[in-house]
Amino acid sequence: MTATLFDGTTASQASALTAAFYPRIRYMGSKYALVPHLAEVFAEVGGRTALDAFSGSGVVSYLLKRQGFEVTANDMLQFPGVLASATVVNNSERLTAEDVERITGPAADDRDFVASTFDGVFYDAEDRAFLDSAWSHVATMEGDRKALAISALVLSAARKQPRGVFTITGDLSRYDDGRRDLRLSMREHFIEHVETYNDAVFEGPTARVTMQEASAMDSGPYDLVYLDPPYAPPSDDNCYIKRFHFLEGLSRYWQGDTLMLNTNSKKLPKPHTGYSHRHTIVEAFRDTFKRFSDSGAIVLSYGSNALPDMETIVSLLREVKSDVEVRKIPHTYHYGTHKAVTRRSVDEYLFVAR
Ligand SMILES: C[S@@+](CC[C@H](N)C(=O)[O-])C[C@H]1O[C@@H](n2cnc3c(N)ncnc32)[C@H](O)[C@@H]1O
Repeated sequence: MTATLFDGTTASQASALTAAFYPRIRYMGSKYALVPHLAEVFAEVGGRTALDAFSGSGVVSYLLKRQGFEVTANDMLQFPGVLASATVVNNSERLTAEDVERITGPAADDRDFVASTFDGVFYDAEDRAFLDSAWSHVATMEGDRKALAISALVLSAARKQPRGVFTITGDLSRYDDGRRDLRLSMREHFIEHVETYNDAVFEGPTARVTMQEASAMDSGPYDLVYLDPPYAPPSDDNCYIKRFHFLEGLSRYWQGDTLMLNTNSKKLPKPHTGYSHRHTIVEAFRDTFKRFSDSGAIVLSYGSNALPDMETIVSLLREVKSDVEVRKIPHTYHYGTHKAVTRRSVDEYLFVAR
């Protein structure tokens, strides 16, 4: 069976449209480069409803929508939810030239949280003041249009931060290689990215966003469940908040947040879940798989240097599904250039369990 395509779009058309229109945010573990391969597998599995349980950048949810699925995009963090609201749930709203004029014009109030909290930490004074001023208008917006405006702000903040991660602070001039992204002001980024997000909007099936920790996710059932959870890397950790706390805070203007003001980056506290620690991660996987035992198919992304190892994952999947296939993704699919392929020697796999 092939996917019930919304308007007859094939897997390769859906993946080309995703590559052309989905705004590219630098996100740890994002699957932009795997989109053509995922599209084929999703079309082969087929069905009507799909869950992207760890949606991150949102690119896979967007692909699923392009393929005609009724998508549920879930992530424990809020800013992935906002990105998916703007591009996957939103079927028709776009920001107008008047919206942009207002948001980039004089501030509507005298808020200065970004200017004062992140002085000497991130960006220059003008860029920080812009984020405050823009939010003074965004705060009065609602629904999909608000999600579009916040997404454009999030993408602007991500592009202007060297390496796109918020673990590095202070004088970052050593990262300045003259790239356009670093030269543009936050305001100029925003104006561009409103257009980027407007261009991504298209009409598709009904979709929704949930923001649940994995152990509390709605179990559906769904015809297709795509899982791209944080594996435990051999070194370092897999904490998304540590890297993207600024984007998470910005997506809600730090409303209700308690920042760790004694840290260099003024970060948000790390959430501890089953996936955060090596000694609990196997149980976390087991719990997630069990949750979807009544769903049609589980498609799981896996990288060869991940923990738990492949055998453990396969045996956990067999606890809930009788047919477990392991597919190695050909190298040409994952990292664009030859140079990049040699730099990253991780083999990517997809497990398809039915
Ligand atoms: C590998 S990334 C997903 C990348 C995504 N597929 C993409 O293409 O951009 C894993 C995601 O899982 C989320 N996450 C981590 N732990 C989680 C948990 N316990 N419950 C729900 N989401 C979690 C992170 O916020 C992150 O966005």
